Amino acid sequence: MGTRNARTNAKQARHRARHMARVASIERAYYDAMAMTSIVSEPRRNPNWGDAAFRGNCDGTLVKDLILRYRVTSAADPMEGSGTTRDVVQWLNQEYKLGVTYWGGDLRSGFNLLKQQLPGKYDLVWVHPPYWDIVRYSDHGADLSTSEDYTLFLTRLRRCLTNCAQAVAPGGRLAVLVGDVRKRGRYYCIARDVMKMEGELGELSTVIIKAQHNVRSNAKRYNGLVEPRILHETCVVFRRSPG
Ligand SMILES: C[S@@+](CC[C@H](N)C(=O)[O-])C[C@H]1O[C@@H](n2cnc3c(N)ncnc32)[C@H](O)[C@@H]1O
Repeated sequence: MGTRNARTNAKQARHRARHMARVASIERAYYDAMAMTSIVSEPRRNPNWGDAAFRGNCDGTLVKDLILRYRVTSAADPMEGSGTTRDVVQWLNQEYKLGVTYWGGDLRSGFNLLKQQLPGKYDLVWVHPPYWDIVRYSDHGADLSTSEDYTLFLTRLRRCLTNCAQAVAPGGRLAVLVGDVRKRGRYYCIARDVMKMEGELGELSTVIIKAQHNVRSNAKRYNGLVEPRILHETCVVFRRSPG
């Protein structure tokens, strides 16, 4: 009898120790994400998240840190491309047993953000749209990267982002990752134009400058360029009021 009790106690103690270790590691991850500032730079892409061969793919570190920092329990990415956000959520769930739910879509898999609503409400909607026509993702008429001029692109981007904002749960956030474009001597500041949508998309809660690495243009020479080359992206975060 005594031996059986001792065995049960030892088993419970091991279980408790494992549980405490897991809680400590989650808390450590939450704590680490609090170190993030408004400038981020991740020279080495995490190879387990998304597909580096997919043009326009972004590293998942920023979305991981936002999920942890905001203690997100549900996330969505309606322009998921190669699935970076999906992979980050899967990794967080495996590593820390966070239980974050995820929904993802993309025009590539038949979800058209111009016309369709996201199927739920989420603590975090992360969206990484095309930077106008810098990378042409498809010839589909609804693909934002096929927009013939900047005015049309912006009109369609606004519609897509409004759809995203409607899927943010009260108190949740919409994070929009964009890059500016220089074309035929003109600077198109997509980040500014997204920030100007404040009100429609929620309250501007932070702006994060993300250094760009491994971009194709890094390999080219730019001797004749007067203005500095664009080597950053901007993550514009809007918060929906809790009420
Ligand atoms: C910059 S990429 C996203 C890359 C992604 N973050 C990743 O890491 O792989 C933009 C994506 O928007 C998608 N897209 C363009 N127009 C769309 C639309 N109307 N509805 C849904 N997705 C669209 C493209 O197919 C492309 O996959």
